[in-house]
Amino acid sequence: MNIKKLSALTACILLISSLTACTVTDTDDPGAENTVLKEDLSVVNENTDLTKGSDAAPSISENFDGLEPLAKKRGSALMKLMDDQAASDGKALMIYNRKEAWNGAEYNADVYRGNEIEVSGSFRSANPAVRVSIQFTIYGNTSYNMVFSVDTNESSYTQGSGRYIIPANAENIIVYIESDNLEDIYADNFSVNVAGEYKYYAEAEALVFADTSDYPSLKEKYGDHFLIGTAISPTSIDTPEYSALIKAQFNSVTLENDMKPEGILDHNKTVADKEKYMECPALKFDHLKAELDFARDNGMTVRGHTLVWHSQTPDWIFYKDYDVGGELADRELMLARMENYIKGVMEWTNENYPGLISAWDVVNEAAADSGGMRESLWYKTIGDDYIGKAFEFARKYAPDGTKLFYNDYNSYMAGKQSVILDFLRPVAEAGNIDGVGMQSHINTDINQIIYMTALKKYHEELGVEIQITELDIGTNIKNDSWQDIQGEYYKSYMQKLTELENSGVPITSVTLWGLSDAVSWKASECPLVFNADLSRKPAFDGMIAAAEQE
Ligand code: XIL
Repeated sequence: MNIKKLSALTACILLISSLTACTVTDTDDPGAENTVLKEDLSVVNENTDLTKGSDAAPSISENFDGLEPLAKKRGSALMKLMDDQAASDGKALMIYNRKEAWNGAEYNADVYRGNEIEVSGSFRSANPAVRVSIQFTIYGNTSYNMVFSVDTNESSYTQGSGRYIIPANAENIIVYIESDNLEDIYADNFSVNVAGEYKYYAEAEALVFADTSDYPSLKEKYGDHFLIGTAISPTSIDTPEYSALIKAQFNSVTLENDMKPEGILDHNKTVADKEKYMECPALKFDHLKAELDFARDNGMTVRGHTLVWHSQTPDWIFYKDYDVGGELADRELMLARMENYIKGVMEWTNENYPGLISAWDVVNEAAADSGGMRESLWYKTIGDDYIGKAFEFARKYAPDGTKLFYNDYNSYMAGKQSVILDFLRPVAEAGNIDGVGMQSHINTDINQIIYMTALKKYHEELGVEIQITELDIGTNIKNDSWQDIQGEYYKSYMQKLTELENSGVPITSVTLWGLSDAVSWKASECPLVFNADLSRKPAFDGMIAAAEQE
């Protein structure tokens, strides 16, 4: 093992660590009125280097009583060390000027690669909760995972802690403090330590890929039933081992991120001539070409994902003059922008890749988790008929034969299903929807009978076809047999889908949300059918067995 010498910095961190042994739970506010601003630390700490290896386990431990924190600002957030705000004595870190949920404070954690970490901290905030998360990149795919969350309040500190196993092939590892709400966050007694024996990985471990050439093929096994797809990114095409396996296994692809509005809407061009683009925001498409070429050249079909969504859609398109924070656009203006966006995307794809896109997720995730419709900016600017309008425009501009889908997660849950059915009924009556996409980010605890009953109901009530659009089945099981349990679940899930399809329910496509656990958006739950080295998991064998058994 390559173990580097203890750096001066690490020694310093260890010293700080030994001085701050205590954490505090629910202490009283030590006097918010007497806050003394010590220094504005928004631009400090460019020189903190925690990436050096060491004989001893590294340790980040901050009570924020020094002159500068080791933490760096994240996004637009700024930081100050505050007197009289600490959980115990000394100072605390105030994180303010947060414009988005992920804005906060962060620590480089590359030195923990391949280790289990224990993270702990005390937080006070007007936000109902503060989260500590970890971000890392594996083969160009960045995932964001929660380590722990604490319920917070304005008047006293709450302490929390959590553990996380960082993969040995992760790069750009960052531990960070964030919150879904944008109020200031006070942090104190923050630490990141190694749980167990420290292993030092100087660099992300290179993977030796498994030989996948003799695997049975999912697309062949399910050829009589439905298309079998996967989500792709530019990395899927650039990594020969990935692209070979995708070509062998799948006949449908969904671009995991690149067809979303945030990539297609061209902010710079639009705001450079607001008058010209007032009703018709400028669009850009070059970034889609490599992935669409790959699909076309390998005889695959593409699921277009997605046109109208609250997420990964920039806020500026909802504002009258494209100025976030100004006046929201009115209904007529937003309808014009929606129509022109859908028209532009349909025209470009049809002109450049005729016949390639067989289905579009026209509207994604319009139902709220808490019941009713999600109060997105589409809903707020246009009103509750925005879904019907989106489908009307999609039908108007989609080439004949392109299937139009509504797509959502947790849509097997009774409450959410009834909301979805209510808003889709008029769309079905108008003849503007062809299918319901069940995303299916599920886990091994979900009751498959309830799920399959709900699936059938969408078909029966709306007269539409069904696609499984983003399948991944995570598991929280930590024992040695978790892979087998997940494999059994995949097998019986696929058996039930095939039985339903045999009985006449038009299930036309099943798409896995990514190729391997390493590139999954939920990497920590290992929800896919191939391991990081592309060796087959029991989940893959379960899918194959289900096809062979029926
Ligand atoms: C996810 C991607 O997998 C991530 O890479 C990205 O950071 C966030 O979006 N529902 C959807 C998908 O419709 O577009 C989402 O994909 C997962 C949830």
